[in-house]
Amino acid sequence: MTSLIRDPALAPGGQEKIEWVARHSPVLTRLLRDPLADGTLAGLRIGVSMPLEAKTAYLAWILKQAGAEVAVAGTAPGYVQDDVAAALVQRGVQVFASSEHDRAGFQRCFEALADLGCDLFIDDRGELTHTAHTSRRAALSRLRGASEQTTSGVTRLKAMAEAGRLDYPVLAANDARCKYLFDNRHGTGQSALVAMLKATNLFLGGAEVVVAGYGWCGRGLAHKAKGLGARVTVCEVDPVRALEAHTDGFEVAPMLEAAQRGRFFLTATGCRHVLDRQHFERMPDGVVLANAGGVDIEINVPALHAAAVERQELRPHLVQYRLGDGRRINLVAEGRLVNLAAADGHPIEIMDLSFSVQALAAHHLARCHRDYAPGVHPLPAEIDLRIARIKLESLGCAIDALSAEQKAFLADWSWGEPA
Ligand code: NAI
Repeated sequence: MTSLIRDPALAPGGQEKIEWVARHSPVLTRLLRDPLADGTLAGLRIGVSMPLEAKTAYLAWILKQAGAEVAVAGTAPGYVQDDVAAALVQRGVQVFASSEHDRAGFQRCFEALADLGCDLFIDDRGELTHTAHTSRRAALSRLRGASEQTTSGVTRLKAMAEAGRLDYPVLAANDARCKYLFDNRHGTGQSALVAMLKATNLFLGGAEVVVAGYGWCGRGLAHKAKGLGARVTVCEVDPVRALEAHTDGFEVAPMLEAAQRGRFFLTATGCRHVLDRQHFERMPDGVVLANAGGVDIEINVPALHAAAVERQELRPHLVQYRLGDGRRINLVAEGRLVNLAAADGHPIEIMDLSFSVQALAAHHLARCHRDYAPGVHPLPAEIDLRIARIKLESLGCAIDALSAEQKAFLADWSWGEPA
């Protein structure tokens, strides 16, 4: 099957975006020399499903240069840049993604990609793996395994494994330190706030910001908002994380209470309907809602529609809902992942780390898939260390190393005893 994109003529703009990413991705570029070019990926077909913008395109291009046949599917409405899709096709990568697709259209893209017969998947939210285990089971015969990019995807695939429904090994790329410590925390923290502020053109200093979820993403959002002068309240369901938020200096409150005083609301939980009708009923006039979590249903948008008497598009990616009592609620990017739907996603340097994890996960799975049983597995620690070393080197940062005596000390259990 040929590619399925909106307009091949858009390629020049996409090429420039990919070149800009290449210039700021020292780790991925370096990995192409060693180890990706060692022939392990040569001739393998790798199916990638990711929000289709220039960083994803650069990952696909690197894998292709390492000898793989690469096909890319977009993930969901709002997360496809058509010029980048066209540029990738021009570079010889098969692409199934158009900004005009609805949800059913994206499912057809996953199926078209699965029908190609892939050896490996690099997946987002478990969509390709789910497709291969349901409507496209023929794809299972060739697949060696997959690596998964997101927290929500890892949770979903663990549930599949728990139910005995996962037929191959999945490496939890999301759980690598070089992924979540930077991507989820700093990447989401910066890019979701920037996207929300760009969509509204409003000021955060002194404003009440409510962050739902104090996981890696929520921590990043709360700390960056505080850094911009906001007064931050955290809502959590996990008592330890709530205590951590309190200890970090944030207010902690249930959403029903926080809803009454917030000005900006950001969700980052991976859970459904964290902002719902009962919260909309209590919010002050003029609040701004945005979602940074991996599922598009953290904000109950249909309930907001139902409660509103008028809906007005105010600015790109910003819709105002007027409720029966006159209060206005402003929703950014229709409740989709705000940093992807209303901006370019994470900063390039962050995705250089995340996609280096993905590239090395694919390389590792290609060689060692037989060492893993079906299920969800962590990546070997060496992958994190390798990526961090290269990144530090590119930054000109040197670090210390343990001396032989220090290693011996740390390996010795008897040091507390008298000689
Ligand atoms: P995490 O598991 O570390 O944190 C989620 C937190 O939300 C947990 O502490 C949990 O107790 C809390 N939570 C769950 N349900 C809640 C509820 N109803 N109310 C309040 N708190 C609740 O996950 P992480 O890594 O922070 O990711 C969060 C979401 O963001 C996931 O869906 C993930 O896929 C997505 N994500 C989005 C990114 C983006 O680019 N916008 C980047 C990385 C992850």
